[in-house]
Amino acid sequence: MDTGDARMSLPSRSNLAHHWPLDPQTVFLNHGSFGATPSEVLEEQGRLRGLLERDPVRFFEREYSDMWDESRSAVARMLNADVDGMVFVSNATQGVNTVLRSLDLEPGDEIIVPDHSYQACWNAVDYVTRRSGAKTVVVEIPFRVEDPKQVIDLIMEAVTERTVLALIDTVTSPTGSRMPFEELTNRLQSRGVDVLLDAAHGPGIVPIDLSRLEPAYCVGNFHKWTCSPKGSAFLHIRKDRKDLIHPLNISHGFSFEGTAQEKFEFEFAWPGTQDPTPWLCIPKAMSFMEELVVGGWPEIMRRNRDLALQGRNLICDALGTTPPVPDTMVSALASVEVPTDEEVGPMSLDGDPFHNYLLDEYSIQVPVMPWRHHDTKYIRISAQLYNHIDEYRYLADALTDSL
Ligand SMILES: Cc1ncc(COP(=O)(O)O)c(C=O)c1O
Repeated sequence: MDTGDARMSLPSRSNLAHHWPLDPQTVFLNHGSFGATPSEVLEEQGRLRGLLERDPVRFFEREYSDMWDESRSAVARMLNADVDGMVFVSNATQGVNTVLRSLDLEPGDEIIVPDHSYQACWNAVDYVTRRSGAKTVVVEIPFRVEDPKQVIDLIMEAVTERTVLALIDTVTSPTGSRMPFEELTNRLQSRGVDVLLDAAHGPGIVPIDLSRLEPAYCVGNFHKWTCSPKGSAFLHIRKDRKDLIHPLNISHGFSFEGTAQEKFEFEFAWPGTQDPTPWLCIPKAMSFMEELVVGGWPEIMRRNRDLALQGRNLICDALGTTPPVPDTMVSALASVEVPTDEEVGPMSLDGDPFHNYLLDEYSIQVPVMPWRHHDTKYIRISAQLYNHIDEYRYLADALTDSL
């Protein structure tokens, strides 16, 4: 690694970047990890917090319930989902845990997990299978594929008569690949396997139509690609599975004596005292983003994907490699392998040394993810409306200088 001249001048962001309070001294190419919230949406969150704190009792008794309902209706409209199955959770990890830890697994039951799955969600599968004597069936899928059909074939070959559930991503985390989740949901469920769709990278990055797909369960984040405040995520449960699932926090709703639907809503809407403003800000975040660009969400997704594809080409050239997956498997995220002689260990919260080097020497915020399941490190770029192609050129130059 050459630690020579690392002081290139910082590239500019796009002309929409002033809407985000991002540090101007950082080249921020990691929208994917935690999202980033525009100032106007944060102001709305401040307004809602002000309303709550003026009289918390009044807020929770008289205002909260209607606001919760309005917010989930907006979410259901965006995802074309049955509003009665839509609830909020704090994050996708919690949504995945909510489903898995509600299920009554039998010894010998099998849950499919592709080896591109987010480690925290994979861990949750291991936790429930170990406790119940069920089995996690890991499907090995290479990073480099020529056709998404290869992914479908590998996953379908892992189905047995004991498979009860498959964890399927819309877009994967370490490998940044858009999975053929529509066809997979259809094929798996036709074989009697429930799909738990992990749409952590879902709303705002890929079109999702839950009424058409009908996955048994879908979890997803609004704090990533829809840019709402952190802590805003959804869980959608198909009508015939609602009886099975309870929130992780068993709270007042559990003993509520109303209709099944009222009980379901009460259980999820009241996990105990917490700040509900991330959930209540989702409609504002959706409309704010949508109005930034003529053409709304389809155009935002198209622009971000185009930028990610262009960025990926620049990085591939810098690393002397070729695009690893077909363009159809790229959304606003794209990963490429980073050459390394080191042993690839587990991910750590401290960040990979090469990620830290790029941040410290070049002010680039981009994830470098050791993925020991593939014995590879991936660098993953994100593209959001505030990004500009010059930022990926800058990263490419930094890679050329450093590797
Ligand atoms: C595919 C996938 N699933 C789940 C998660 C977890 O999201 P959260 O941290 O909001 O729970 C992520 C986070 O990046 C992810 O990429």
